[in-house]
Amino acid sequence: MDILFVGDVVGSPGRDMVKEYLPKLKRKYRPQLTIVNGENAAGGRGITEEIYKQFLEAGANAITLGNHAWDNKAIFEFIDKAKYIARPANFPENTPGTGLVFLRINALEVAIINLQGRTFMPPLDCPFKKVDELIEIAKQRTDIIFIDFHAEATSEMQAMGWYVNGRATAVVGTHTHVQTADHRILPDGTAYMTDVGMTGPYDGILGMEREAVLHKFLTGLPVRFEVPKSGRKQLSACIITVDDKTGKAVTIKPILINDDQPFFTE
Ligand SMILES: [Fe+2]
Repeated sequence: MDILFVGDVVGSPGRDMVKEYLPKLKRKYRPQLTIVNGENAAGGRGITEEIYKQFLEAGANAITLGNHAWDNKAIFEFIDKAKYIARPANFPENTPGTGLVFLRINALEVAIINLQGRTFMPPLDCPFKKVDELIEIAKQRTDIIFIDFHAEATSEMQAMGWYVNGRATAVVGTHTHVQTADHRILPDGTAYMTDVGMTGPYDGILGMEREAVLHKFLTGLPVRFEVPKSGRKQLSACIITVDDKTGKAVTIKPILINDDQPFFTE
C-alpha cells in the first residue's frame, strides 16, 4: 500500500492547500491511506470538529496531532467520539482521546501512532517506553504501523527512528515545520524522515507572520503570533510505499509544493 502523509497544516492557508492539492495528490499517487497532521489547523493552534470533518471530506483517513492538540478547547467536546484522531499517546493516563488508531483499509489493518518528544518540549511520559507498549498492542493486529513523532529535537527524532527500526513501518517527524532532506529506509525496513515540514504560509516564519516573530527576536518581548491571512502558500508531505505482506517500507519520497517547486501531475 501507499501512505500519503501531509505535515502540520497551519491555519486557513494550510487548510486551503489541503483542499486544493489533496485531491490532486491522491490522483497522482493513488495512496490507499492518507494521514494529515492537524495540530495547527485552527488559526495555528489546535483543531475544531468542523476542520476535522473538512479533512476527512478532502480525502484524509486519519488526523494526527501534537503539542498544540489542546489549544482550541473545542477538542475536548469531540475528541472522544472522533474515531480517526490520534493525539500524542504519551500524555498521562485518562487524557481524552487516544494515541493509537486502527484503520481497516480494504482487507488490511493499519495502526497509526502519534507521540510527542520531550527534548525542548513540556515534560510528558517517555515516548520510547510508550512506543514499545503501543507496538506490542498493534502487532497483535497488524505489521503495518505508522508513527508520527511530533518533536523539536532532530536527535530525538533520529533516536526514535532507530529505536523502532524493523518494528514500525514508518516514523516521520512533525512540529519543526521545516522539511528535512534525510528521508530514507532504515536497514530493517522502517521509512524515516526527521521532519515532513509544514503546510501553510510560504513567506512567514514557520507559518506565522514574520513581523511578529522578528519583533520578538529583536526586542525579546513577548508577542502573540498569528497566521498570515494572505500571501503565498506551500504544502509539505511524503509518500511511503509499503510491502503489505511484511509491513516493511520499500520507498519514502518527500513532496513539497510551493511557487518555487510547483506541482506537476507527471
Ligand atoms: Fe507542534
